[in-house]
Amino acid sequence: MTDQLRTLVDKGFTDKRLVIVTNREPYIHKKVASNIKIETPAGGVTAALDDVLKTTSGVWIAWGSGSADREVVDENNTIEVPPDEPAYTLRRVWLSSTDIDNYYHGYSNRMLWPLCHITLERVFFRRRFWQSYKKVNQLFAEATIEILKKTPDSLLWIHDYHLCLVPSIVRDTLPESTIAHFWHIPWPDWSVFRVCPQARELVEGLLGSDLIGFQIPLFVKNFMDCVRELLDAEVDMLRQKITYRGHTTVLRAYPISIDFDKFNDQAIKKATSRVINNIKREYNLENRYIGIGVDRLEYTKALIKRLQAIELFFEKYKSYRGRFTFVQIVTATRLKEPYLSYKKAVEDMVERINRRFSRDNWQPILYIEKKLGFSELVAFYRMADVGVVSSIYDGMNLVAKEFISSQVDKKGVLILSEFAGAADELEGALLINPYDVEDFAEQILKALKMSDKEKSERMESLRQQVRHNDIYRWITDILGDIVDIAAFKNKKCTYLLDNLQKLKEQLSDRELFIFLDYDGTLTPIVETPDRAVLSDEMREVLKELKEVLPLAIISGRSLDDLMNRVSVDGIYYAGNHGAEIFDGEKVIVSRETEREKILMAEILNRLKESLQGIEGLIIEDKGITTSVHFRKVRVKDLNRLFKEFKLITREYLDTFRITIGKKVFEIRPISAWNKGDAVEWILGSYGNNRIPLYIGDDVTDEDAFKVVQGRGISIGVGLNCKVDYYLKDHKEVMAFLREVINWQRR
Ligand code: UDP
Ligand code: G6P
Repeated sequence: MTDQLRTLVDKGFTDKRLVIVTNREPYIHKKVASNIKIETPAGGVTAALDDVLKTTSGVWIAWGSGSADREVVDENNTIEVPPDEPAYTLRRVWLSSTDIDNYYHGYSNRMLWPLCHITLERVFFRRRFWQSYKKVNQLFAEATIEILKKTPDSLLWIHDYHLCLVPSIVRDTLPESTIAHFWHIPWPDWSVFRVCPQARELVEGLLGSDLIGFQIPLFVKNFMDCVRELLDAEVDMLRQKITYRGHTTVLRAYPISIDFDKFNDQAIKKATSRVINNIKREYNLENRYIGIGVDRLEYTKALIKRLQAIELFFEKYKSYRGRFTFVQIVTATRLKEPYLSYKKAVEDMVERINRRFSRDNWQPILYIEKKLGFSELVAFYRMADVGVVSSIYDGMNLVAKEFISSQVDKKGVLILSEFAGAADELEGALLINPYDVEDFAEQILKALKMSDKEKSERMESLRQQVRHNDIYRWITDILGDIVDIAAFKNKKCTYLLDNLQKLKEQLSDRELFIFLDYDGTLTPIVETPDRAVLSDEMREVLKELKEVLPLAIISGRSLDDLMNRVSVDGIYYAGNHGAEIFDGEKVIVSRETEREKILMAEILNRLKESLQGIEGLIIEDKGITTSVHFRKVRVKDLNRLFKEFKLITREYLDTFRITIGKKVFEIRPISAWNKGDAVEWILGSYGNNRIPLYIGDDVTDEDAFKVVQGRGISIGVGLNCKVDYYLKDHKEVMAFLREVINWQRR
């Protein structure tokens, strides 16, 4: 666990409990003859969330699907898990066989799954499916409410397409709850989602949440588009917030990941080399190239297309017959139609290809239907020369990340479908369009012929990305936001306009110095930075304010730009996030070395070159610092932008600080003054020990909030809990500043 996550868990979960709700349970008790066997299911959701709850502890509510599940629970239907090292409570919900057919196999797997994976010809709907879906969501919600009533301070985190209605049912009974939902699969665009007869009810159900997480930004955008089409809701596309029937839901993309170290550490063990040797001997894989696929037997993973590509590969490149074996590991779940037919089709095809090409003691495809143990799974990943993920659509795909993390020798190549969420994040794989079977076959050849150097470079880059963005980073990001939302709801950070009197008393005999950020504080957030114009009304307020109190405006903009925009005399200005200050007479510039200037020019050139062609991107050269604005960039270009930006800037992290604000990356020399330093400098230069009152809305304002805390008043605009008070927007800032002027005049 990272230090950051540890701090979060320590701070956020000392007085709270995390309650997770999913359809599938993480541990299944099964009767085998007269014994009870414990199984862990295949699938990304349970694998990822088990790591979460082992870290935070709490309760997991899920369908008790195992044949011995009822035998092992206590009178509250709970059991402590993991069985060998209990860390959290599993609360089982019981479903009738009719509901399993209608809610799970029916509505979840035959309506929502194919709908969201855009395989519309597989969508199959019966009214009884929907009736049962509503009933089972009610059951899950009741179990959840029972737990929440016992520990009201819990944070509720619901998962996936089986449980769309739970958020609003819980919200209706317990309106103050903090509820997050994570959507693990793709969210399609409106032209697809409208196919669903219950589109409106599903979206309304989800909007009972305070936060909805998606895998990638595209799915967030699709969801917002659907809400705009379906409901009379206020959809703030820029801030990614939806207000419906008085309740606000925040939407964010959080790409899910895996425990990199767990796979890496296992792969590197000597024991794994032994397992590899055994596997090679057992399956006759010695001295052959090895390809690997690990999937649930699932049509969205495009196993048929994968087999077609493999067949074509052996047809065209005869020299690889006898030298290359593709190992396909599968686990069957959801064993009803259409999965039964799909399973049969896959098996028939494997058999046919094997019949067609097998010779001597070699066969092209080694098909293993079994849920492998962890050590064997990692051994397969490590020994493979090619890993194949060919989904026709996929929320993320964890197998891709597991393969990368196990590739400690960096000799394997990942072939990855461009339609898997993972392709939006990962740079270094060979991307394929699984529908283009010929190119797919060519990419297998390319992977096998790739030089050792290129393989190693690509894999190293992929490994860095997964290592950095591992499951703990995912948990930290989401839980951080949930904890913030809970704090906000519980009003631990106080709404200033309801507490003016309190602040007035706090300040009664003290002399203030007012510091104001510009964008988002004095002006609304707008599409491009040049449109953030100060209103005449606000300018008048600032002019009145400076007559009664000393005032500084502190911004990330260049000093010139800021002064031109505000255009009020007799006040302090700080530009470039505090690196240049105008004290009323002269400009003071923070230390900036020649080397930093040269490097900043180099970064600018590289960014301009590599990001050219991205429509809507604004790279703002402000001398000491640079801002890269992407508010107007099309969603489909965002991933290219993020990847290339990261790749370039990571080489300069020892000299520059990179922060991400509201749709903007800020690049600042580490040694340059920040907004906090500017506050210190201005207070010192003004003298006479005034109390700072700072209002800001941006990540870069946090440096100033830190300086102010304990000796002054910090006020955040928007959802910000690292401050004493909050205001909702620039209009409220204006109202507050007018109050301050009145206090001073009186
Ligand atoms: N898995 C497994 N054995 C199999 C197939 C899959 O253990 O035969 C595991 C795999 O290791 C991964 C998860 O199931 O942890 C699959 O997650 P992914 O996101 O790739 O796909 P999903 O099944 O969630 O659609
Ligand atoms: C995907 C879904 C999960 C599901 C898993 C396995 O990962 O997003 O919610 O649990 O597949 O499917 P199953 O139907 O066996 O739970």
